[in-house]
Amino acid sequence: MSLNHLIDLADMDREEVSALVGLAGWLRTSPQPQALAGKILGLVFFNPSLRTLASTQAGMARLGGTSFVITPGQGTWQLESRLGVRMDGACAEHVREGLPVLASFCDVLGIRSFAAGVDLARDLADADFRAMASVIPTPLVNLESAIAHPMQGLADWRTLDDLGIAPRSRFVLSWVTHPRALPLAVPATTVHMAALRGHEVVVLRPDGYALPPEVMDRARVAAAASGGSVSETSDRQAALAGASVVYAKEWGSPVHYGQPAAEAALRATLDDWQVDETWFAGARADCRFMHCLPVRRNVAVADAVLDGTRSVVLAEANNRLWTQMAVLYRLLRG
Ligand code: CP
Repeated sequence: MSLNHLIDLADMDREEVSALVGLAGWLRTSPQPQALAGKILGLVFFNPSLRTLASTQAGMARLGGTSFVITPGQGTWQLESRLGVRMDGACAEHVREGLPVLASFCDVLGIRSFAAGVDLARDLADADFRAMASVIPTPLVNLESAIAHPMQGLADWRTLDDLGIAPRSRFVLSWVTHPRALPLAVPATTVHMAALRGHEVVVLRPDGYALPPEVMDRARVAAAASGGSVSETSDRQAALAGASVVYAKEWGSPVHYGQPAAEAALRATLDDWQVDETWFAGARADCRFMHCLPVRRNVAVADAVLDGTRSVVLAEANNRLWTQMAVLYRLLRG
């Protein structure tokens, strides 16, 4: 984390992340209802949310602060984020004016802005989010951008700590199917988080769904520094053998990025990529199941897994509250 912007877990080292996760644990057991009294959190959601929106507002309130929410185009001006365009369409205001104005009203700003999903290189560089960050002088929290969802990564690390999952254990990030091609932010953050925590990370995915080399290479560097490893395979049985964690996530094919019809045609052949109990036959008996939510039941994951004792998806979601409180506390109190 730079002095006042938290954009990507990959911008932080293991000690910084671990300290934030520890602070989240402390805030959970030691309420600080006046810590951020008088402080204001501004939230800008270009995309929908359930957990992120509710947990950031609840977390700010639990620390004594307050918040406001802007959903551009819904009661407020629609905001343009592309550079150099002639603004003669639906957008009445550009983020280069709108965001600094909002930042001037508050002490910390949180923004959710998903990938455009057209230009893979641009989304991998998080170019649009970082351009927005460049005009925001106040502390800034990324609430999911094109390639990063650091708040999810922190909550998942907190959950692994809570469960006593050993850092050297096998952590399988598996692709699962979905009716649409979803962004790369969560899988990119998850592979990095698990690598940074020191796991033996295996990315299990069908052909055509390998995560981009930029994501894998960066995770391998993090793993090397933490005593872990990162590999990938399409062999489900081999990947799941001895797994301590299966983390399911949907994402679009990088091979067909920005080509919805070709991507959908490939994905249509992969309906068996739905996690059910048979996936755990070779895993450790105490193997846990994780997913960031929202999840499509009986598309990505079978009812029996989500409703069974392996599933920790609700604990992950609850930890969004404590880890985001830790981030707000750290940004506003140092
Ligand atoms: N996991 C997550 O970010 O959930 P929401 O999209 O509901 O915020």
